[in-house]
Amino acid sequence: MDGVLLALLLICFRLTNVISELIEPNFPQDEYNNINSNSLLWGPYRSNLYLGLRPRIPDSILTGLLWFPADTFHGVLLSKQSCDPKHNIKKFGWTDYDPRYGGIETIVDDDCKLNITTEFVKSDDGQNWVLRVKGKTHNKHSINSIVYHVGMQDGELDFDGEFAGGSNNLVEEDVKLNGNLKSLGGMFDIKIIDDIDNVMAVSNTIDFDNSYDPSLTHYVSLTVPKDEVWKASEIFWTIVKLNLEQLETVDKTTYEFSPIELFQIRNSFGFKGNLHFIQKTFVGDFQFDIVFNMHESNDKFDSDDFTGKLDETFNLIDDKFTRKYQLNVPFNTQEYISFAKEILSQLLGGITYLNDDRKINTDEMKEDSVHINSKIEGGNEGPYELFTCVSSRLFASRGGYWDEGFHLLPICDYDSDLALEIIKSWILLIDDSGWIAKEQILGDEARSKAYAETIVPNTHIASPPTLMLALSKIIKLSESSQNVIDGHALASDILDKKSLGSLHEENMDLLVFYLRKLYAKLQKHYEWFRETQRGNSDEIERDYSNNKEIYRWKGRGEDTTPPSGMDDYPRGDVDIGELNVDLLSWMGLMTRSMYEIAEIIEKYDDLRTYKERYNDIVKNIVDVHWSENDGMFCDVNVDEDDNDIFECHEGYVTLMPFIHTLIDSSDNIKLVKILKALKDPSKLWSNYGIRSLSKKDLNYHKGEDYWRGNIYVNINYLILEALYHYGSDENVSEEARNLANEIYVELRENIVNTVFNEYNRTGYAWEQYNEENGVGEKSRHFLGWTSLVVSIMKMPKEIT
Ligand SMILES: *[C@@H]1O[C@H](CO)[C@@H](O)[C@H](O)[C@H]1NC(C)=O
Ligand SMILES: *[C@@H]1O[C@H](CO)[C@@H](O)[C@H](O)[C@H]1NC(C)=O
Ligand SMILES: *[C@@H]1O[C@H](CO)[C@@H](O)[C@H](O)[C@H]1NC(C)=O
Repeated sequence: MDGVLLALLLICFRLTNVISELIEPNFPQDEYNNINSNSLLWGPYRSNLYLGLRPRIPDSILTGLLWFPADTFHGVLLSKQSCDPKHNIKKFGWTDYDPRYGGIETIVDDDCKLNITTEFVKSDDGQNWVLRVKGKTHNKHSINSIVYHVGMQDGELDFDGEFAGGSNNLVEEDVKLNGNLKSLGGMFDIKIIDDIDNVMAVSNTIDFDNSYDPSLTHYVSLTVPKDEVWKASEIFWTIVKLNLEQLETVDKTTYEFSPIELFQIRNSFGFKGNLHFIQKTFVGDFQFDIVFNMHESNDKFDSDDFTGKLDETFNLIDDKFTRKYQLNVPFNTQEYISFAKEILSQLLGGITYLNDDRKINTDEMKEDSVHINSKIEGGNEGPYELFTCVSSRLFASRGGYWDEGFHLLPICDYDSDLALEIIKSWILLIDDSGWIAKEQILGDEARSKAYAETIVPNTHIASPPTLMLALSKIIKLSESSQNVIDGHALASDILDKKSLGSLHEENMDLLVFYLRKLYAKLQKHYEWFRETQRGNSDEIERDYSNNKEIYRWKGRGEDTTPPSGMDDYPRGDVDIGELNVDLLSWMGLMTRSMYEIAEIIEKYDDLRTYKERYNDIVKNIVDVHWSENDGMFCDVNVDEDDNDIFECHEGYVTLMPFIHTLIDSSDNIKLVKILKALKDPSKLWSNYGIRSLSKKDLNYHKGEDYWRGNIYVNINYLILEALYHYGSDENVSEEARNLANEIYVELRENIVNTVFNEYNRTGYAWEQYNEENGVGEKSRHFLGWTSLVVSIMKMPKEIT
């Protein structure tokens, strides 16, 4: 009897446990989900294009803009659609933008001598939008052709109107298309409305065929498989080329005709299908609106004048930015505020939606030798969905796991609900084993731009778990939130798009609900790291109490450690006995984040386990990695005689225990040593930021010179946070606190001005900065982690 009772009690206990995990917070959750997804439905989520709007729905609508100078034969070569570092684009990107409202993008195209501005505004219900495209030519007589294209991966879209002059491609009126897409909610239409001041080009060298007439809008559609819709630019030019081949049968060479006519799209084969091109050829400046309306929406854009609506949008963005980003002295002046707004907008404007297949390589790796990722083939899996920022629109149309946590930090302050939406999308990509690929390269379009060796990632390779930085930040924001919302108070009737941005932060129930849903995946991910990246304790003879919390990056190259994110940072020889101090530090961060999460979702058993592991990690950082002789934390390796040795290269790797604040605040000797090295110009200090590698290291600026001296904004940001952490801790000695404050104040100003000055000088943010002269280097238009400059401007002027 007792046994039965006990069993019953146990079952009940389990049940209540399960139920308590699924109980929704006292909050209109469904309402929130709707408003949140609707406000993020449409966006320039094809951020690898200069302008590519699409909804955040798989197999739906892909749109884009293509343009080229139409008055010269080599205009073909200057055709633009997809961001490309080879283009002579002086500046581009969203400069005033919020994914929930819309915004403005400017493209200064020095190849085409054309400035394009696009203004994008969404209706309050998120379903409808207007895109205003404005062109300003540097020479008022120049002629440009602008092609807007809409590709349907599913559903229908048809031309609604009459063709002019007996043609099957010329349109005199505004173009109107009617469509239907179930996943989007049904019927919609798209109108392309010309400004009355536009002047269309006139040319009549092909007088025997009026379908080349550039003075009218050209419209052609054709059938394309859904996986090829992204190739709209190539397809456009293929059709134009086919037209030219027809002309060759005429009694003249093509050079006797004008390019203004030659490069007009025609429908000589009577095509009709899912990919639609609308081409307009203007003399001088131009402007037209593209208006998208869902038929069932109550919030349609009806009028022909959207100027007021656009102004309203910009006011909303200004207001949100001013509320969320109070910059601190000396950066609270107009020029820095504009700069900050522009940088944050550019980061937000890079947000991309991917939904496609991926390739992976599940081969076991050799434990004791160099890993060469020679695979270029892999099984196709999926489709997978990802909503992500990108490091650089010029180079990457993919997500990067190592970068993403950094991208999200500035977004957390601006719109933590958006940050959580992105984090969720990433966490859902963690597979059953707990692994996630460092580079998320989904689909052929993304693969077409990726480095060959990154296309098929190996499922045994890790990269730094930076998403944990963002999760911890949101938990911290929530704990310090001033205006905590009571679920009751937030009735659904006041919940609208404008109230979104920090709802999870201000409503702990909601955050707890979110974290509970993702916890199982996070746990798997964490255990994957512990199991697969654990170091080998057999070869290390050292006085340490715990042989579990030691780690080694799997998948090293000869002189590189790509999984660490700092590819060519100097390390020891590839050896099974190697132990990496940066990975142990990342595990410290991850374990601490896991216990913060376990605490707020009330998983107390897990919390105890995480705390024990965290203490072991903190202990091992000193016991295993502190080299008394070198006065820094170092990798450990094994020499030819099988003795374990320290492998010390002062820089970002040796700073990692400090960066993740894993050093005990009472450990004055170590803290002071590290702070002095930070401030030492012969080691880590430069006037532009903290160097990645000490000037004293033998590898300084040697070899590929990627992470061997130059300055990275992401790590400098973490250093500033760590300085603030120790500098404001009463248990840290006065000596160390004073040092921390002194470095903090100067470093903060140096790093902001480095990025600011180069942005002003070159029009771009850069991947890294030269530590001798502050010049931006490597990839440009790098609004990934370099955007952290806005978070730095928001930090206090000094440590209090
Ligand atoms: C194009 O933009 C650049 C940079 O903002 C500006 O200096 C130039 O005056 C613009 N040209 C025209 C024709 O608007
Ligand atoms: C300082 O140390 C004491 C004793 O170890 C501890 O209780 C306190 O929380 C510490 N203060 C901070 C700011 O860490
Ligand atoms: C930006 O650069 C120009 C020169 O290119 C300079 O005259 C101006 O002072 C700079 N602006 C700021 C705010 O530093």
